[in-house]
Amino acid sequence: MASLGYEVIVVDVDPEKIEQFNQGTVPFFEPGLTDLFRTVRQSQRLLFTTDLTKIADCDINFLCIGTPQSSAGFSADLSALERAFNSVIASAKVGSLIVGKSTVPVGTAERLAKVISTQKKKLTLNWNPEFLREGHAVSDTLEPNRIVIGAEAQENAEKLADFYKSISPKAPQFITNFPTAELVKVAANAFLATKISFINAMSEVADATGADVTVLADAIGVDDRIGRKFLGSGIGFGGGCLPKDIRAFLARADELELGETLAFLKEFDLINQRARTRAVAVALKELGNPKGKKVAILGAAFKPESDDIRDSPALEIAETLSTLGANVVITDPQALHSAAAKLPKLTYNDSVTETLRGADLTMLLTEWGAYRSLDPVQVIELVKTPTIFDGRNVLDVKTWQVAGWKLLALGRTF
Ligand code: UGA
Repeated sequence: MASLGYEVIVVDVDPEKIEQFNQGTVPFFEPGLTDLFRTVRQSQRLLFTTDLTKIADCDINFLCIGTPQSSAGFSADLSALERAFNSVIASAKVGSLIVGKSTVPVGTAERLAKVISTQKKKLTLNWNPEFLREGHAVSDTLEPNRIVIGAEAQENAEKLADFYKSISPKAPQFITNFPTAELVKVAANAFLATKISFINAMSEVADATGADVTVLADAIGVDDRIGRKFLGSGIGFGGGCLPKDIRAFLARADELELGETLAFLKEFDLINQRARTRAVAVALKELGNPKGKKVAILGAAFKPESDDIRDSPALEIAETLSTLGANVVITDPQALHSAAAKLPKLTYNDSVTETLRGADLTMLLTEWGAYRSLDPVQVIELVKTPTIFDGRNVLDVKTWQVAGWKLLALGRTF
C-alpha cells in the first residue's frame, strides 16, 4: 500500500520484529518483498512501531491478526484478534473504518460490530478476507483475483470498495453481508483442501490397485470443470491456513449443529494426515531397521518459496523418522532457521551435497526448484544407496531411473 502512495503505519506487539523492519530487514522470506520494502522505505511513507496511539490519524485500520488453532481443540483461537480489536477501537480516529482481514469463524464480525455500535466514535466495521498465497504474496496483493467486503449495509462498504478500486481496478468486487464474507474465505480454503485430499484418496486407491495417481490427475484435470490445479498428490497440505481452517470450520459447524453437513472435511483431514504416515511407512519398508540409517530430507518448509514451517508435512515426516532412530539430515534453501528454532534436536545442513553424502535414503518432501532440477547423474555419486522418495510427485521418473536411481512415491508403482 505504501508502494502505491498511501501513508502506512504498521503496528505489532513484537518489538523484535518492529526493530528488524526499522533496520531495513524483512524478518521472514517472501519472494520480492525485500526489494519492494527497500524501495518503499526510502519514501518515508512506511512507519513501523509498537505504539498503537500512532494510529490516531488513520482513516482505515486493517486488523491482520493470526487466528491459529486453539491449544484445547479444533476451534480458532481468537484471543489475539480480540485483544487487538479492543486496543484499536480505543485508539482509532473518530469516524474511521476498521477492516478485519483475519480468517474467523462465521458470526465473529457481527459480534464485533455490536461492540463498535456501543461506542461514541462512529466507527464502521468491514470484513475483508485475504486470499493471498505465501510465496506469491506481493503479486497477489498488488493484483488480487477478487475483493470480498462484508458490511452491515452496502453504503458502509463504499469507502473500502473505492480504496480497492484505486489499487486494483480489475479485481471483481463482491460486497455482501458479514456471514457471507467470512464464509467465502473458509469455503475457499476448504475447497482447496478438498481437492488435495481427494487426489490423495485416489492415491491410496492407486496404491492398492496398481494405478498411477499422477496420470489419473492429468487425465481428470484436462476437464476444465475439474481442473488440474491443486490435484498435486503426495504428502499433502500443511501451513498455517488449510489444516487449521478446515478444523475451525468443523468446530464452528458443530456449534451450529451442522456437524453432519461438514463431516466430509473430517475425512479429508484424516486423509491428509495419513499421507504423512504413508510416507513414513514407505521409508521404513525401504530402510528395514531405521536405526543409524542416514535419511537425507530435501525440504523443511510447508511449500516452496516460503520459510514457513507451520504444520509442515516435511518436518513431521523428518521428526518421526528421527524419533524412530534414523540419522535424519534436513536441508532447505530458506526454512532451516525457522525449523531449527521449532525442532532444535533435529540435524540441519545448508549444503545439499553434504545432506546427500552417504545417504541410505533420500526424500524430496518440499518441491523447491533447486531440488526438482538436481542432476541425478551427478548426485548419485554422493549417496550410499541411490533410492529417492518423491513426496511431491514432481521428478522426471525416466531421467532418474536411467541415471541408476530407484524411485519411490505414493500412489504410483515404478
Ligand atoms: C492458502 C490458500 O491457497 C490462499 O488462497 C489463502 O489465502 C491462504 O491459504 C490463507 O488462508 O492465508 P497457502 O497456505 O500459502 O495459501 O498455500 P497453498 O498454496 O494453498 O498450499 C497449501 C498446502 O497445500 C501446501 O502444503 C502445499 O504443498 C499443498 N498442496 C498444494 C498440495 O499438496 N497439492 C497441491 O496440488 C497444491
